[in-house]
Amino acid sequence: MTAKLSVNINKIATLRNSRGGKTPDLLKVAADCERYGAQGITVHPRPDERHIRYKDVRELKPILTTEFNIEGNPREQQFLDLVLEVKPTQVTLVPDVTGQLTSDHGWDTAVHKDYLKDIISLFKDAGIRTSIFVDADLKMIEGAKETGTDRIELYTEDYAKQFPENPAAAVRPFAIGAKRAQELGLGINAGHDLSLENLNYFAQHVEGLLEVSIGHALISDALYFGLENTIQLYLRKLKSFNA
Ligand code: PXP
Repeated sequence: MTAKLSVNINKIATLRNSRGGKTPDLLKVAADCERYGAQGITVHPRPDERHIRYKDVRELKPILTTEFNIEGNPREQQFLDLVLEVKPTQVTLVPDVTGQLTSDHGWDTAVHKDYLKDIISLFKDAGIRTSIFVDADLKMIEGAKETGTDRIELYTEDYAKQFPENPAAAVRPFAIGAKRAQELGLGINAGHDLSLENLNYFAQHVEGLLEVSIGHALISDALYFGLENTIQLYLRKLKSFNA
């Protein structure tokens, strides 16, 4: 089984917003990512709309042909309403605080169990697959099972940080966590700081990986290799275990 590549296009919106116009054209980039082989598009709208805007999310929905994944904090009413209106393939719940630079922790699935249970059943009743962002920690993964979520997204920043010095130690908690998640019947996604350097090793060692969402490194690589080539390079990292 090969994990799907979902391209996070937040950085494209950041670039567009820096000049206030329509360049680069976010919808065209999203459609092109799909044309070049991406199997999903991810967006992470935040209340300050500093990158993806709520309007972008509404406009993306009818043109996308692959999986649409919307990430964010469901405690923000605007996010909740948007997801229920747009009905993406998947919603990934992230416990961001307002103004946060980027996601930097997973849910405490013990403390927030009841809240997550309620919100997950709301999304599932609307026919939206659910995923929750969690650290590679067995207690958090076991707690995720109790929330009723379909999937977890493993937060991979620690893996990416440790990978250059000690790949085996870096991946170990993720391999163990994924094994437990599989035993519990949870689907496994992963994301944050995955790159051309560290992706293949992660995919090789984390069994049952269904999807990775990648933004920062992929869009940065596209400056050098072009978007089409870059997507192909990432797909190869997922497909071939000798890449
Ligand atoms: N997953 C989540 C929950 C995120 O918040 C982000 C960053 O927006 C990513 C994945 C992708 O991380 P990166 O941009 O480092 O690839």
